[in-house]
Amino acid sequence: MKNLQAALNWFDGNYNEKLKDLFSLLSIPSVSTDPERKADIQAACDYLAEYLKGLGADKVQTFKTKVHPILYAEFNKGGESAKTLLIYGHYDVQPADPINEWKTDAFTPTIMNDNLHARGASDMKGQVMAAIFAVEAVLKTSELPLNIKFLLEGEEEIGSPSLDTFIHNHKELLACDMVLNPDAGMIAKDMPTITYGLRGMIYFELRIDGPQADLHSGLFGGVVANPANVLAEIIAKLHNSDGSIAIPGFYDEVLPLDETERKKLASTKTADESILQVSGSPKLFGEAGYNSNERAGARPTLDVNGLYSGFIGEGAKTIIPAYAKAKISCRLVPDQDPEIIYMKAQRYIAGLVPDTVRATFYKHSGSPAYLASDAPGSDQLVKALEETWRRPITFRREGGSIPVATTMQNALGVKSLLTGFGLPDDQIHSPNEHQNLTVWKLGVQAFIRFLESFRA
Ligand code: BES
Ligand code: MN
Repeated sequence: MKNLQAALNWFDGNYNEKLKDLFSLLSIPSVSTDPERKADIQAACDYLAEYLKGLGADKVQTFKTKVHPILYAEFNKGGESAKTLLIYGHYDVQPADPINEWKTDAFTPTIMNDNLHARGASDMKGQVMAAIFAVEAVLKTSELPLNIKFLLEGEEEIGSPSLDTFIHNHKELLACDMVLNPDAGMIAKDMPTITYGLRGMIYFELRIDGPQADLHSGLFGGVVANPANVLAEIIAKLHNSDGSIAIPGFYDEVLPLDETERKKLASTKTADESILQVSGSPKLFGEAGYNSNERAGARPTLDVNGLYSGFIGEGAKTIIPAYAKAKISCRLVPDQDPEIIYMKAQRYIAGLVPDTVRATFYKHSGSPAYLASDAPGSDQLVKALEETWRRPITFRREGGSIPVATTMQNALGVKSLLTGFGLPDDQIHSPNEHQNLTVWKLGVQAFIRFLESFRA
């Protein structure tokens, strides 16, 4: 108790300074998908490496990969019988686009009404620093009661192309008793949350090529096929009128929801209202026969994430575009296999392509869904969150994807504690991303409690 109070007090006393450290990390535009940001990705990695060295980490190592570096650090003086906690995080962020929609500069952290605005504030530099500050608070006031390993990657937002292999090749280095992954967010300010299920994903691009260059639509319109028209027709055939996905066999492996699960995911009016409010959409949409909790947590989807063809500048330009491209992703549920779904999608779409154009597919990333309760350390984390918030914990299945949880379960044999202090209206991946600071501060306190709960 004495140690706990000291660590909590330390964080309280150093709050403003720690906020500045978080600002420093948020100021680095570490956008993983943008090749021009490679140096910034490296800078974010270096910042974290230096920070952890500054805390006296026993080992800090950066591993080069084909894309962005992986940072490993270790505090190994927890003692002989101490358990080892592996903390996962990602220091990369989504692009800030559309930049003009931001009220503040995306990489100039700004506090407005208790919210910290910046790309990555919620997803997930804020969460990474929350975990680091909790470790720091304990280190500054006593000794760590655990051995702690950090695994921080810079490729999460592009589907972690290097991480799978890295984890499989470094099982010993990453060996641990518990995994804490604070990338999963919470349901509401006053509802501390542990996530026990995540959707998987398969992401691909479809490109339709027609003429070799953009053509005058007066001279060639109605004579050669228009790739934009063709792509639109294909996309229109990907769903049925009841909102289900039209790809044959798409639902073959989908685990049906049993009664207990359906009870857990029972719809609530407030949940639906909050989706309407947060999204600003005029009405909810989805697969017939399922409520919105089921649709988001336990049913697969297919969505066009980006669409490009022809002239998209101001004004009018009369052309038949040479090509049209769609970025498409499916959120997957247990037991759908990303590769098999991709194969079925390709086969179905290929059958829809007329011989007046050529279609090509390009695969981005694939990962299966995750469903696992009772990760080691659950009891301690529940207690830490409940005592901090003074509210009961909620367990939920989440629609987003955190592929590393499955990789770690397979490679290290350890299920992940999935939590976090991001809120549904933080606008992650959108303009004006922010992190609520009251919630964030509680989050750091909860992590301090969690660490301290392992003191004998
Ligand atoms: N932190 C998110 C996932 C998330 C968000 C989980 C909210 C739970 C609640 C993560 O950074 C993310 O966006 N992941 C990508 C993964 C993809 C690129 C493979 C996603 O879900 O789109
Ligand atoms: Mn994230």
